[in-house]
Amino acid sequence: MKINQYTELYGVIGNPVRHSMSPAMHNAAFADRGINAVYLAFEVEGLKDCINGMRSIGIKGFSVTLPFKTEVIPLLDEVDDVTLKIGAVNTVVNDDDHLEGYNTDALGALRALEEKTDISGKKVVIIGAGGGARSIVYILKKKGLEVIIANRSPVRGSDLGKLLDCPFIPLDELVDVQADILINTTPVGMSPDVDKSPVPEKVLKKGMVVMDIIYNPLKTRLLSVAEERGCLTINGLSMFIHQGAEQFRLWTGIEAPVGVMTRAVEKALG
Ligand SMILES: NC(=O)c1ccc[n+]([C@@H]2O[C@H](COP(=O)([O-])OP(=O)(O)OC[C@H]3O[C@@H](n4cnc5c(N)ncnc54)[C@H](OP(=O)(O)O)[C@@H]3O)[C@@H](O)[C@H]2O)c1
Repeated sequence: MKINQYTELYGVIGNPVRHSMSPAMHNAAFADRGINAVYLAFEVEGLKDCINGMRSIGIKGFSVTLPFKTEVIPLLDEVDDVTLKIGAVNTVVNDDDHLEGYNTDALGALRALEEKTDISGKKVVIIGAGGGARSIVYILKKKGLEVIIANRSPVRGSDLGKLLDCPFIPLDELVDVQADILINTTPVGMSPDVDKSPVPEKVLKKGMVVMDIIYNPLKTRLLSVAEERGCLTINGLSMFIHQGAEQFRLWTGIEAPVGVMTRAVEKALG
C-alpha cells in the first residue's frame, strides 16, 4: 500500500492503547481490499479535544476503547439503538462531519457463537457484568435466549440484570446452574495471569459450549479445562474479528476479509 495525498485516516482512541490488535487487523483488511487508507492507534488524554480534532482533520472513522466507550456518547451527533440501550460506543463513522456512534461488540459476539453452534432455545450463563457482558447479554436477550448473569459484585450484577431483564446469581452459586452455554466476560485468565480461571472445573460439563472473550492468550485456562472436560470451545479472537468486520463494513460499505483479518491478528499476537 502506498501512502499519498489521497490516503484516508482511521484509528482507535483509548488509554492505554498500545496493546491494541485493531491496527494490525484493519490495515490488513484495507490492503487486502485495495483501499487507500491507514489505521493508527491514538493514546488520548483529553477526549473532547480529541473528538474536535477528529472532526477538523476529517478522519473517516474510528474505534473507541477503554476508558472512553461511554464518555464519548454526548460528543457524537447520533448513536444507534444498541448503543442507547447498553450505553457504550465502540465504533464511530464520520459522515461528512456527522459523527455516528455504533456498538459492534454485540454482533461480533453473536456471530462468534453462531458460527460454532445453534443457539436457538439455549440457556446461557454470562460470567461478569461489565462492558463486554452488557453487549452480549443485550444481543442474546434480543434473540430470545434465557440468560443468567453471574458476577462477583452483587450490585453491578443485579443492576445489569434489572436493565436487561434477566436473573442475577452470585458467582459462588454457579455450580448449581445447568446451562448449555457459558461465556466468560471477565479479564480473569488474561495475560499475564494465564493460570487463573473465572470458574471452578466442576461448572464445566461435557457437551457445554464455553466461550471466553479474552483473546490474549488465545487458549485461556478456562478453555483448556473446558476442552479436557468435553466442551465445545470458542476463543475471544472470533468475537474480536467479527466486531472488527462489522466496523469495516460500516466504514467502507464493503464486506470485510475475515480470514485475512484473523491471520493478521494471529500473527501480531505471535
Ligand atoms: N473479544 C473481544 O472482542 C472483547 C470485547 C470486549 C472486551 N473483551 C475483553 O473482556 C474483558 C472484560 O472487558 P470489559 O470491558 O467487560 O471489562 P469491565 O467493564 O471492567 O468488566 C469486568 C467484569 O469482570 C469482573 N471481574 C474483574 N476481575 C474479576 C475477578 N478477579 N474475579 C471475578 N470477576 C472479576 C468484574 O466484576 P465486578 O463487577 O465484581 O468488578 C466485571 O463484571 C477484558 O479482558 C477485555 O479485553 C474482549
